[in-house]
Amino acid sequence: MTDFDLVIRNGTVATAADTFACDVGVRDGRIAALGEGLAAGGREIDATGMLVLPGGVEGHCHIEQLSSFGVMSADDFHSGSVSAVFGGTTTIIPFAAQQKGESLRRTVEDYHACAGPKAVIDYGYHLIISDPSEQVMGQELPALIRDGFTSFKVYMTYDAMRLDDYQMLEVLAAARREGALVMVHAENHDMIRWLSEKLIDGGNWQPKYHAVSHSRAGEGEAAHRAIQLSRLMDQPMLIVHVSTEQAMDEIRRAQDQGLKIYAETCPQYLFLTAQDLDRDGMDGAMFCCSPPPRDAAAQEAMWRGLANGTFAIFSSDHAPYRFDDSGKLHAGPEPTFKQIANGVPGIELRLPLLFSEGVGKGRIDLNRFVALTATNAAKLYGLHPRKGTIAIGSDADIAIWDPEREVTVSHSMLHDNVGYTPYEGRTVKGWPVTVISRGRVAVMEGELQVAAGSGEFLGRDFPEAARPLGRLEPEMDPARNFGAEILPR
Ligand code: URP
Ligand code: ZN
Ligand code: ZN
Repeated sequence: MTDFDLVIRNGTVATAADTFACDVGVRDGRIAALGEGLAAGGREIDATGMLVLPGGVEGHCHIEQLSSFGVMSADDFHSGSVSAVFGGTTTIIPFAAQQKGESLRRTVEDYHACAGPKAVIDYGYHLIISDPSEQVMGQELPALIRDGFTSFKVYMTYDAMRLDDYQMLEVLAAARREGALVMVHAENHDMIRWLSEKLIDGGNWQPKYHAVSHSRAGEGEAAHRAIQLSRLMDQPMLIVHVSTEQAMDEIRRAQDQGLKIYAETCPQYLFLTAQDLDRDGMDGAMFCCSPPPRDAAAQEAMWRGLANGTFAIFSSDHAPYRFDDSGKLHAGPEPTFKQIANGVPGIELRLPLLFSEGVGKGRIDLNRFVALTATNAAKLYGLHPRKGTIAIGSDADIAIWDPEREVTVSHSMLHDNVGYTPYEGRTVKGWPVTVISRGRVAVMEGELQVAAGSGEFLGRDFPEAARPLGRLEPEMDPARNFGAEILPR
């Protein structure tokens, strides 16, 4: 008879708050004890010299999703979740993306059918709302939020997805009424459209012009506008995949004013630049994502935002398309930049890249690394403390890192189905060598040890982060201006 199913001994545990030496005892898939000299476990892992960290919570990835171009992502819930877990991530929250005219409930059922038999780690979905009809906003969305889909993404650009400001206000009002977090893709649609048309009309169709058409000003403007919509509605908001100092400054200013504006950045904005889109032939297409990578100064700004707390989360925005006619080049061998499927892969390298260049190079400390990659996403998306931390009662989702292991990245060692990595040839120091999901050893010695379909769906709680400040703009004063409350409480 043993006290624990699993004991991880002699490691250094780090959470978003503290770093300490202790053993971790796991029983029935949960953390049951933290302490020195724990009693024997049915299975024991010696973590001497290792870091014992919460498994990553990946809050932004596109898996088995039809893009706005109608292109299916290269990863399904099996390859996507396998790739995630090999990179130290134990929870994924991809998107259940509504197609225009489709019922949101139907969207979710379709994703359940895909994920259930395939996912190897726990998962939930954010909703993508592309068609905020009366039926969707009045009935389907409230019911789904109550069922645990407590976050959703809206787009200010892309023809097939974008909402206008009026629709954004309706979505924010629904989020306020029902208790959900709104994630925003903030880029100015007409600036992109105008620039793209002029570029292509002038014969400038190559991948590098993608970065020109998605201007910094357009990202800054849309971030500013989104923040004002959030301010008017007194409803928190998360601005995803921030790439520019312009947008970051808008966010920082709003945060300094006490607004609940959260923000995310991603590996492509730390490690790639617009120069990558100017590689030989069509190779630049592999680096086309929206917003696009910028330059060295923008990279430095993103690092500053990660260190100073402007960014709450660091996600991959894994949007996997193969470099062939099933993905990036679906429109032909030499498409214009407007026809290239948007997105880069990164779900497996998200944590190693940030660990190596962030913690390893002294740009952020270990606790901030944990906050950015696990704890804050769990909090923003209503999963904390079940996920995203190492605490008694939490799910035993743990990544054991060898901080000294050096790995030279090549696509052949990764587990996604993309066929290339934007980070080919880069050497990282620090690697998640053993990964545990709900107490099950999922990855050890480079081997997957959990079966397709063994991941569990996660219904999520009301995210505290989405609670309004209760600070209304004077114009919204019901007594003075409307004679009745117009905002849902
Ligand atoms: O280029 C990107 N990021 N593609 C994925 C879709 C999105 O906007 O997140
Ligand atoms: Zn987006
Ligand atoms: Zn995305």
